[in-house]
Amino acid sequence: MSDQKKTKNELKYYTEFLNVKALSSMHPEIKKLKTKNSNHTAHGNKNWRSSFVLMDYLTNDPPKSGEKILDIGCGWGLVSIFLSKNFNNEVHSIDIDPSVVPFFSLQTSINKTDTSIKIKNFTEYTKTKISEYGLIVGADICFWDEMTLPLLKFIKQALNSNVRQISIADPGRPPFWDLAEKCAKIGGEIFTRRINEPIKTEKHVLVINKDHK
Ligand SMILES: C[S@@+](CC[C@H](N)C(=O)[O-])C[C@H]1O[C@@H](n2cnc3c(N)ncnc32)[C@H](O)[C@@H]1O
Repeated sequence: MSDQKKTKNELKYYTEFLNVKALSSMHPEIKKLKTKNSNHTAHGNKNWRSSFVLMDYLTNDPPKSGEKILDIGCGWGLVSIFLSKNFNNEVHSIDIDPSVVPFFSLQTSINKTDTSIKIKNFTEYTKTKISEYGLIVGADICFWDEMTLPLLKFIKQALNSNVRQISIADPGRPPFWDLAEKCAKIGGEIFTRRINEPIKTEKHVLVINKDHK
């Protein structure tokens, strides 16, 4: 295949950002999977743009050496793949929706990572289980009003365990602002970030640090 044709296909089927290939809905394997798995129950139907902004944020505020990372609502796994390819940390990915698994597996395999996904609701974590992690990340996981309070409870529980930082990126939906307002009381800060690559977009990252005082 000529270089020019390859570049055209790359643009159509995936974009490359921070060492990660993000597959588009036009990718032939994604198209095949979509014919079999189209019943996503909670929006795990593509790579969401907040993922790119969270990846960009994490290049400036990277994981600490040796800490385990949990990606909640990982969907197709872009942020998990980015973390596992660019840092020497163990990454665990969870999602409530089993239908994201084949998309996650395809994207991890194309990116040559061995990150794996577990089907789990983040509300099921006990304090002991959360204590395994130093960093918790999530991209676009606060999109329904009823998600705000369970997320707040989860964040508080994480801060009461060993978790050092929780970082959640969002396009700025009302439930997210509600969560951000509630988290301001426990040291949450908002970082608004604009990126030009791989797409021009502006999103918000809510960062809550354990030692904010
Ligand atoms: C808008 S998608 C974002 C996916 C991915 N983080 C991204 O940025 O491409 C939201 C994801 O959160 C998952 N999700 C929703 N509620 C969840 C819960 N309580 N526990 C775990 N995952 C959840 C959905 O199944 C979906 O894959």
